[in-house]
Parts: sequence; structure tokens; C-alpha cells
Amino acid sequence: MAFKRISDLGDLTGKTAVVRVDLNVPMADGKVSDDTRLQAVKPTVDAIAALGGRSILLAHFGRPKGEVVPEMSLKPVVPALASVLGRSVGFAELGDELPDDEVVVIENTRFFPGEEKNDPALAKKFAALGDVYVNDAFSAAHRAHASTEAVAHLLPSAAGETMGAELEALEKALGEPKRPVVAVVGGAKVSSKLAVLENLVAKVNHLIIGGGMANTFLYAQGYDVGASLCEKDLKDTALRILENAQKADCAVHLPTDVVVAKEFKACAENKVKAVDAVAQDEMILDAGPATVSTLTKVLAECKTLVWNGPMGAFEMEPFDAATVGLAQAAGKLTDEGKLLTVAGGGDTVAALAHAGVKDNFTHISTAGGAFLEWMEGKELPGVVALG
Ligand code: 3PG
Repeated sequence: MAFKRISDLGDLTGKTAVVRVDLNVPMADGKVSDDTRLQAVKPTVDAIAALGGRSILLAHFGRPKGEVVPEMSLKPVVPALASVLGRSVGFAELGDELPDDEVVVIENTRFFPGEEKNDPALAKKFAALGDVYVNDAFSAAHRAHASTEAVAHLLPSAAGETMGAELEALEKALGEPKRPVVAVVGGAKVSSKLAVLENLVAKVNHLIIGGGMANTFLYAQGYDVGASLCEKDLKDTALRILENAQKADCAVHLPTDVVVAKEFKACAENKVKAVDAVAQDEMILDAGPATVSTLTKVLAECKTLVWNGPMGAFEMEPFDAATVGLAQAAGKLTDEGKLLTVAGGGDTVAALAHAGVKDNFTHISTAGGAFLEWMEGKELPGVVALG
């Protein structure tokens, strides 16, 4: 979809931009423990400053549900943000007189009940903070909230640098992708990614299913998955997804060999088995080497990859092997210019970092829920409002 960029807002000399960012960062002992989302704010603040403007930042922290929860104040984020931005960053409650800093963070938007209700009156107060609105929080764009949706209709609006880059990368991955397209969908449960699977079979040429959710599909196909994580009640759903895939000419790839163990713990004694040889007391904890080798060939045939969810219990060695193997194959093909690779979701980013390929992928989304909703094919209200 078409959306404006910061450069389309014209000269911002003497103007203030109200910028929705995602400061929902992990904290440990009152300090920011991972500043990835703070880094993502910098290009936008810099771009606004380059046009002569000042940034007033709106953001949420946690889920205080419309009440003031002091532990969810954004104030402790300010020093880390100032250091990442290399600018003076002030802090204010909505309605306070704004300090004179180059950048000002407004207290948690979710302290107001109107935020999650997309309340026009609250949006008006947000809009009154500036002259233009920039949304740079793709990771909150699946929420129709006053600071992500309603406010966008009240001021000239544009996508921030990080949001713009993200939307462009996502368009290349599932909007108008170079084909063949392969999707890797892993993770524990089919139930949490039903809509993703339904949408993808209609859009991609190859669908690789990994992690615990592959067990449900194997079970649906009549395999005995022993003591593995498996949603037996979703057998018919799994069969329907496979049938829809066949109708849409989407090749679904499930493991042909698996790594099994009798205990769910790191370094548990384990064996590689054919998928039809899992014993009653064994759990499937990873895809096997033959599967990884087959899937690597599938990636090599494709031009675009979208990845969400690990292939196995990657947090526990040696059950990280399939995730690491496939991620490294994807990273190498990206480096060689043969594959465009887009990944997103909390576990996925951690898995790719663990495989050492986070910097090799074409685009890694900082979003969790928003990335999944995008993979489900849903329109994101925060993006639509910029159109
Ligand atoms: C996230 O952390 O994924 C975003 O900040 C959105 O947070 P939410 O799921 O609480 O809306």
C-alpha cells in the first residue's frame, strides 16, 4: 500500500513531530537490557531533525490497562534512549509543559483508558503536541489505539524510517515477491499459528513446518509421535490445511527424520530416527539431519524466504541443530545474493541470533504480534491509517 514518508512532510523548520515509537523494551534491575528498539528510533529522530523538526515521542510500556502503574513508567528508559540517540531527551506527563530538550518522551500512553479504546478525545490531546504525526512503531501497528490510529487522522501523517523500511521489506516478501517463495513456520503449537498457516498456503510455493507444530501434522498423517508435544484435537484442522495447500499448489515439507529424547532437557540422551520409528516414550525435539539437508535444497531453489518460529527446541543443545543448520543455509544464500530473507517474532529473532545469522538476513522485524498478524494477511490499523 502507498504511504507517505518523512521526506513527504516537507520542511519541518520550527515544527514539532509527534512520533509514535515502540519503547516497550526489556528491562533488568531498572535498566534497559536490550536496546534494539531504541536503536530503531534513531533514524527517524535524525531524519526529522535533518528537516529542522523536533520529536515528541509517544509510546506504551507493558499493559497497564488504562491505569497509572508506576512500575510501567517510561522514565527509566530515558537515559538509555538519550545515549542511543546522542541527543538530550526530556520526559513529561501528557498535559505538562514540555521541557526544552531536543527530544521529549511522553509518559506511557496506556496509562490513559482512552488509548486502547482509540478514543478521539485522547487522540486530539496527542495531536495538540505537534504539527505533524509520524508512526515508527510497526510492532504496535496491529493495535487500533489512540496513539497509533486515531491521531494519524488529525495531522499530516507519515511512516517513520524504521516503519517504512519494514513495510518495504515485507512487501518484497509477501506482497510482490520474487518466486518461488518459501515460508518456514515453526514453534510449539499449531493453535497459535492457524491463521498464519491458512494464509501462507495460498501465497507461498513451499511451506516448511517445524517445531512442535510439525508433530500435530505428522500425527494427522497417521504417524505415531510417542510422547511428543502434539495437539491431537487439531488433527482435522491440520488435514484441512494440507488439503488447501495441495489445492493451491503449495508444497508442504514436514520432517522425514527427527531427533528424539526421553527427557525434555538440554543434553538429554538422544537419537536420530526416521519419522515412522518414534517409540511411545520418546519425544521429538528437533528435525533430523536428512530433513535439514532436504530443506536446504528447497531454500536453494527459492528466491524469497519468510521465517517465523524455530524448527525444534532450539534453546536446548543439541536440539538447536535443525534451526541453526537451516538458518545458516538461509544466511549463506542471502550473502550470495540468491535469496531475500525476512524473519520476525521474538523466538525467531533469538533463534537467528543464536545461529549467528541475524546480520546476514535481508530484514529482521523487531515486531512480535504485528509480524504474525502481517503473516496472517491482516491489515494493520496503524499502517492503514497512514494511507
Ligand atoms: C510488542 O512488544 O510486541 C509491542 O510493543 C506491542 O505490545 P502489545 O502486545 O502489548 O500491544
